[in-house]
Amino acid sequence: MIEYRNLRVAVLGGGSVGSQVAALLLQHGEELAARAGAGLELVGVAVRNPDAPRDTDIPAHLITTDAESLILGADIVVELIGGIEPARTYILQALNSGADVITANKAVLANHGPELFEAAEQVGAQLYYEAAVGGAIPIIRPLRDSLAGDRVKRILGIVNGTTNYILDRMDTRGDELREALAEATRLGYAEADPTADIGGFDAANKAAILASLAFHTTVSLDEVYCEGITGVTGEQVRAARKAGYVVKLLAICERITADGVEGVSARVHPALVPLDHPLAAVHGANNAVFVEAEAAGSLMFYGAGAGGVETASAVLGDLVSAARRHVAGGPGVAESTHANLPVFPIASAITRYQVTLEVNDEPGVLATIAQLFSDHSVSVEAVSQSVAGGQGAERPTATLVIVTHEAIESSLAATVASLTASPVVASVVSVLRVEG
Ligand code: NDP
Ligand code: HSE
Repeated sequence: MIEYRNLRVAVLGGGSVGSQVAALLLQHGEELAARAGAGLELVGVAVRNPDAPRDTDIPAHLITTDAESLILGADIVVELIGGIEPARTYILQALNSGADVITANKAVLANHGPELFEAAEQVGAQLYYEAAVGGAIPIIRPLRDSLAGDRVKRILGIVNGTTNYILDRMDTRGDELREALAEATRLGYAEADPTADIGGFDAANKAAILASLAFHTTVSLDEVYCEGITGVTGEQVRAARKAGYVVKLLAICERITADGVEGVSARVHPALVPLDHPLAAVHGANNAVFVEAEAAGSLMFYGAGAGGVETASAVLGDLVSAARRHVAGGPGVAESTHANLPVFPIASAITRYQVTLEVNDEPGVLATIAQLFSDHSVSVEAVSQSVAGGQGAERPTATLVIVTHEAIESSLAATVASLTASPVVASVVSVLRVEG
């Protein structure tokens, strides 16, 4: 048997992901050691409540509530607690003691990334986070390493499994949002507080991480426009399908030019995706990240975006990489923020829109509405009309569905304000961006 140098691995958190990481590490320790060139000894799993039921059998002697002592004795610390505190403090303690850190925690990275990367660089340690975006899907390493020689133009991603699961059930089974969310929570996809999923915040965390990596620029969470799916109704999902679209929560990170200045933009919102686009075929809790790069062209990364054992795969990949660096020596690779591009707000984004209006069914209304779009330089691509209601009433109404060509978000917002104020418009029923 080969004798390896032994590395002490501390796992913080024994929940959906942590319990699977511990189990796989115990089960496949020898194989992982052969790949890493070092023994990977699980020295403990820190939890909050040692008596809580676990998804896997972790030997009782490895369970502890003393995370700090565990960190001090470790070469590699795997943070799988989630949330900001105490995760941030534990990661800093681990890095400051010289340990490499692996985390799946997008919230702590999106909120405190620069501080954590700086701490890692100071001591020459490594901070890995493949599982923080896209669960099992390799996307961090491809962006950081494989595409380091290219220029990324755009990323279009389904990066939240819970919301994709919910929207998919609303589309394919006619569920309402609440019942689909309950099932996603039962299956372990949702965050401890599912508002993070349905409010779009989890996807916004991931968008900040992806945009920072892809554009070599620090993009902070408050620079990511965020709109969740709480306002998406079953009726909208059904109407979308009839019109040839599916509703998806997308994270969009792109290089844009505003007033002649090159910068980046990051946004998360529900969007209409044409049924023939590859992202429309992403079902259940799966994630997919579509990357457009100048030289490489279009690339798609697809797979399980959530789930304990699936996410554990990405964590263990990081663990093997971290162990290899321990064996080879040398400092960790610092985050690259050299481009330092300006981050533009949503008002500068350019996309297509579908605007649904209830209007008075009278002569000249269509012309009035077309003029309001034209007044704000928003070009109309297609219009369809159906009778909405009010027949026999004093003022019959019609439903107009207008799809625009690409327009700047600020122009579209001004158009919607004019439509809302117009006497011929009974109501602006919905405004959805059309992507892909
Ligand atoms: P869980 O809520 O299932 O588990 C969290 C674990 O942390 C629990 O074991 C809990 O202990 C422990 N814990 C909480 N507070 C403390 C504390 N103060 N000290 C020590 N331990 C503590 O989370 P997940 O496993 O689902 O997620 C872990 C991380 O992975 C998060 O950052 C999440 O965003 C990320 N992630 C999760 C995915 C998923 O599909 N679940 C996918 C991708 C990323 P106890 O068990 O005693 O309560
Ligand atoms: N709650 C997250 C999701 C877990 O649904 O995608 C994976 O990050």
